[in-house]
Amino acid sequence: MENLNTSAKTALVTGAASGLGYELALLLAGDGYDLILVDIDKINLEKAKLIIAKDFHSHITLIEKDLSASNSAQELFDEIGNTVIEVLINNAGFGIYGSFGNTDWERESDMLNLHVITTTHLTKLFLKGMLERGSGKILNMSSLAAFQPGPMMSLYYASKAYILSFSEAIANELIGTGVTVTALCPGQTDTRFQAVVSEGDCTENKIRFNIGNADDVAAYGYRAMKKGKTVAVPGVLNKFLSKVPRFVPRRTVTAIIRKIQDKNRSD
Ligand SMILES: NC(=O)c1ccc[n+]([C@@H]2O[C@H](COP(=O)([O-])OP(=O)(O)OC[C@H]3O[C@@H](n4cnc5c(N)ncnc54)[C@H](OP(=O)(O)O)[C@@H]3O)[C@@H](O)[C@H]2O)c1
Repeated sequence: MENLNTSAKTALVTGAASGLGYELALLLAGDGYDLILVDIDKINLEKAKLIIAKDFHSHITLIEKDLSASNSAQELFDEIGNTVIEVLINNAGFGIYGSFGNTDWERESDMLNLHVITTTHLTKLFLKGMLERGSGKILNMSSLAAFQPGPMMSLYYASKAYILSFSEAIANELIGTGVTVTALCPGQTDTRFQAVVSEGDCTENKIRFNIGNADDVAAYGYRAMKKGKTVAVPGVLNKFLSKVPRFVPRRTVTAIIRKIQDKNRSD
C-alpha cells in the first residue's frame, strides 16, 4: 500500500462498508482523518467511499479482506506498511442464531476468528506503534450481549463478552501511556446485522423495541473513544439493562434472554 504522506492522521476501520463501521468512518472523515476502510465486500466498500468522498477530503484507501480467515490480521498489518495508524476500530462482525447443537461450525468458527482472534491480533499489532509514539485510540465493537449469556446465540454473546473483558483489562494496563481502549456495547441497532442474524431457518426479529439508529450509536461510541472512556453503552435503557445481570441471579438472566430470543423468532 502507498504510504499516506499527508499531514492528516490515519484511522483504520474494519467492517466499514455498512452500518456502524460506515457511520464511524463518516465521523472520522468529519474530523479530518485519512481512512483505511476494510471489509469483505469490495463493491460495498466502493459505494461507501463514493458517499464519504462527496462531503469530505480524506484520503481513502480500500482494502477488501475476509477478516475471519486465519492470519488475516497479520496480512492486513503487512499491507498497511509504514502508514501510522492513530485510530484502530475493530468493528467487523456478524451474528449467528440457533441452538448450538444444530448450528454450522464453519460459520461459527469464522465468527470466532473474526470477533476474537482478529480483533485481538489487530489490537496487538497496532498497539506496539501506538505505545512507541505514546498516542493512539482503539475502539473494539462489543455489544449489550456481552453482559450475560445468550441462549440461541451462545457464541455471539460469548465472543462479545470476550471483547468487553479483553478491552477492559488492557485499558487498565494502558493507563498513563497515551493510548486508550474503548469497548462500545450497543443494544439492537438498525443495520444489516439484524438481517444477517436472520439468515437460515429463522425470521427477522419480531421485537422492534428500543432499536437505536446507527448514526446515533456510532456518534455516542465515537465521543466515548475520543474521551478515552473504557466502556460505552449507548442509551439510558441499555445502560440499565447492562447493569441488571449484577443484581439478578445469572440463571434467571439467562432464562430471560432465552424467552426474548424465542419470542423474537417465533412464527
Ligand atoms: N446492529 C446491531 O444490533 C448490533 C448490536 C450490537 C453490536 N453490533 C456489532 O456492531 C458491529 C457492526 O455491525 P453492524 O450492526 O454495523 O452490521 P453490518 O451493517 O452488517 O456491518 C458489518 C460489516 O462487517 C462486514 N463483515 C462481516 N464479516 C466480515 C469479515 N469476515 N471480514 C471483513 N468484514 C466483514 C460486513 O460485510 P458483509 O455485510 O458484506 O458481510 C459489514 O459490512 C458488529 O461487530 C456487530 O456485532 C451490532
